[in-house]
Amino acid sequence: MSITIEELTKNKVWLAPLAGITDNPYRTICKECGADVVVSEMISVDGLLYNRDRSLEYAQFEDQQRPFGIQLFGSDPKVFKKAVKVALTLKPDFIDINMGCPVKKVIKRGAGSALMTTPDIAFAIVSETKNILSPLNIPLSVKFRSGWDINSINSLEFGQQMQKAGADMICLHPRTRGQMFSGKSNWELIAELKKEIDIPVIGNGDIITIDDMITMYKQTGCDSVMIGRGIMGKPWLFTQIQDYFSSGKIRQITTEEKLEIIRRHMELMIFHKGEKQAVYEMRTHFSHYTKGLRGGAMVRNKINKLHDVDKILLLVEKLYKTQEEPKEKDGRP
Ligand SMILES: Cc1cc2nc3c(=O)[nH]c(=O)nc-3n(C[C@H](O)[C@H](O)[C@H](O)COP(=O)(O)O)c2cc1C
Repeated sequence: MSITIEELTKNKVWLAPLAGITDNPYRTICKECGADVVVSEMISVDGLLYNRDRSLEYAQFEDQQRPFGIQLFGSDPKVFKKAVKVALTLKPDFIDINMGCPVKKVIKRGAGSALMTTPDIAFAIVSETKNILSPLNIPLSVKFRSGWDINSINSLEFGQQMQKAGADMICLHPRTRGQMFSGKSNWELIAELKKEIDIPVIGNGDIITIDDMITMYKQTGCDSVMIGRGIMGKPWLFTQIQDYFSSGKIRQITTEEKLEIIRRHMELMIFHKGEKQAVYEMRTHFSHYTKGLRGGAMVRNKINKLHDVDKILLLVEKLYKTQEEPKEKDGRP
């Protein structure tokens, strides 16, 4: 049964697509912690069509991740059309089109945020995709930035065009391509878009805490929020958010809960990728899990040389346990 737009966008918390981070195991972790909607990492339409660059593997997901969207990037509407059909064989709940990626390798092919400078091509991509999805009742979202650079901010016009082309919902990360990830995202552009278009708007950019999320909802009137870097090494932010939605209170996540999630993450990585690859790929995640913790840098260095899962987890456990506040403020045990 197909999912409704409302089920995807009414006060939902989306996990942002993060290439190299939100792979199959991490999406399951985020879903278990409370993410409402998850999206694949960006997948090249050419890669998917010609089965290159492990593209099909990137698009795979577990049923428990639903609602799940496959995010595609590319610049040729005809290739898009064919690739969407391949993506649909995996039965995602929706398709998302990336029009925000600022990375050179992508924009030099006219894809990602480069499409914000070629709105006619962007329009054709969305309408071709919509033609395929519409009879199947499968929603389509488009994710983009505020524009190419500070002199060509066009998120409003671009969003209006995407709506006209057939997008059912849009996600705005209001930084320009030129900004990459520097500076602050301009939430006023999310508010402007929300006011002017009829389809749901998902607000994205710089949500690190629950307070940020509350402020984004208030300042922009967005329908849903999407969180990326704020959950790197902190998937339990989703748990806090869901607790907050149900109780109105912000609960601290205990050390034991965090460790349980980290162990589960390692377990899922091993299940999906085998021990050797899991240990290797978990180094990136451990660099986030240990960031900002007292003694974190030393533990990171050690983990990067270790191959034994139990030893790695023990180190992380010790690190987390030493972060706990002393029971008595005067330092007595
Ligand atoms: C490491 C990394 C990988 C990313 N990969 C993707 C991607 O594959 N697709 C995409 O649309 N955006 C990607 N983004 C952008 C994020 O989805 C998000 O729009 C951006 O980080 C702003 O949100 P945040 O402030 O919550 O992180 C990536 C960002 C980072 C930091």
